[in-house]
Amino acid sequence: MKISKAVIPVAGKGTRFLPATKCIPKEMIPLINIPMIYYVVKEAKDAGIETIAFISSTGKESILDFFDRNLELEKFLEDNKKVDLLKEVQEYARMVDIISIRQKEQLGLGHAVNEARCFISKGEEFAVLLGDDLVFAKRPCIAQLADVAAKQGGSVIGVMEVPKQETCKYGIVEGDFIDDKTLRMKKMVEKPAPEIAPSNLATPGRYILDSKIFGALKEIPKGAGGEYQLTDAINLLCQKEKVFAHIFEGRRFDTGNPSGYLKAVINLALQSEELKNDFINDFEEAKKYYEL
Ligand code: UTP
Repeated sequence: MKISKAVIPVAGKGTRFLPATKCIPKEMIPLINIPMIYYVVKEAKDAGIETIAFISSTGKESILDFFDRNLELEKFLEDNKKVDLLKEVQEYARMVDIISIRQKEQLGLGHAVNEARCFISKGEEFAVLLGDDLVFAKRPCIAQLADVAAKQGGSVIGVMEVPKQETCKYGIVEGDFIDDKTLRMKKMVEKPAPEIAPSNLATPGRYILDSKIFGALKEIPKGAGGEYQLTDAINLLCQKEKVFAHIFEGRRFDTGNPSGYLKAVINLALQSEELKNDFINDFEEAKKYYEL
């Protein structure tokens, strides 16, 4: 089945990025000059997604504005013959169809995904991409997971290998390999210590989920941190339905924390013909200046 819808939860408070997130949605913080959420939406679009539901909250309106037209700005750019910029700002509004669903209380990622139940039909598979996780890959990460879902059926969770000593920072999956990169999942363990971690396969925010996840989300009680955890619902789903984990190809950045954000900016600068040399030269100068 073609996956045409994606859910992008962006309702979180972004405490790791305070004080900026006091008045700017985390997802609108730019990587160089483009908001980080653009890269997540582009990944979905490049994977063939046509409609995106943002799970949103108070103060996140600028995310919707970014993917809307701004006729006053367009007129200004047109009048001033800034043709390339005009095309660029119009392009963001054309990428995909967007809808917004309010999560009125921030009760966790599981609760946020459950808010999308009116958007997804029974029997439909859909994508979930976290708005503060970026994956730079040759083939969009979510498309790699959709390929597995098309072949195997069921839900597919994107996983990446992490050093064993870092398992305590992530949700870690347990399962049996069915090929080089894919496991039939048995369960997910939240932040296990390295000595008890069932694998070193961590789950950043990329999922293809069967609509049956909503049944599981309805059943779970509040979990870690007093929040409804998507992990708990996926664990429940694993017991009854086919759930796979797939090791995707690509570089992933947790742009929800300052260190991951910085790495993403540096990687983008190095990908840019225009900025690469400036960045490298200035870095050499900085090393001398700060005596690194
Ligand atoms: P995070 O755990 O990163 O939480 O949520 P956060 O609030 O965004 O950031 P910190 O940890 O306080 O810095 C993972 C994803 O789930 C969304 C967030 O927007 C983020 O994309 N989320 C989380 C919701 O949409 N609603 C929630 O109730 C919780």
